[in-house]
Amino acid sequence: MKSKTWINRQKNDHYVKKAKQLGYVNRAAFKLEEIEQKYRIIENSRNILELGSSPGGWTQAIINFNSNINITCFDLLDMKIKNEKIIFYKEDFLKYDFKNLYKKFDLILSDVAPNTTGHQSTDHLKISQLIFEIINLLDDVLIYKGSFIFKIWKGQEEREIIQKLKKLFKNIDYFKPKSSRQESSEIFIVAREYKLNEE
Ligand SMILES: C[S@@+](CC[C@H](N)C(=O)[O-])C[C@H]1O[C@@H](n2cnc3c(N)ncnc32)[C@H](O)[C@@H]1O
Repeated sequence: MKSKTWINRQKNDHYVKKAKQLGYVNRAAFKLEEIEQKYRIIENSRNILELGSSPGGWTQAIINFNSNINITCFDLLDMKIKNEKIIFYKEDFLKYDFKNLYKKFDLILSDVAPNTTGHQSTDHLKISQLIFEIINLLDDVLIYKGSFIFKIWKGQEEREIIQKLKKLFKNIDYFKPKSSRQESSEIFIVAREYKLNEE
């Protein structure tokens, strides 16, 4: 059950109200919108792999930015939206063999989040583990010069993650959208120009 504090916060949240008005399934869509307004990566993409896609706020934002796009989504839970541009796999991405897709993507998005414990450093370790797993997948799924955008909760593993990314990408930026709650330790990392998989 959701706590009273959570319910009150949702009621008063400007982005929750705006999401309702615009028909978005959640406020998460605005975070991706802000990232896109700054980096303009989605508008130049054709094939996107979205990990942790449900209920589909980011997916809605992607389609709004670029209607000429294919999105391959993975989540343990169902999506609340359907669209001809979306192929949805209700799967644990950790168990999936991405070679089966016979396809590479120009953008990998991850809003994957583990179940939280409320203990900040434990949660940070859990999400970091998922990010390390995705980094290990990149060679199978990302094209040369492609991008990887993901969420992380700040903490000690960030350094190692950034070190790994520096070997794989030309540009790495941190981004904290205005629509991300200030009290939240979440931050987005935008890694551009994948150096591997050159033809
Ligand atoms: C913050 S939500 C994503 C919200 C989504 N980006 C949106 O805009 O609607 C995080 C999601 O990660 C998913 N997730 C966590 N671990 C996963 C895994 N191993 N494989 C697939 N999905 C996973 C959860 O089920 C959850 O739906």
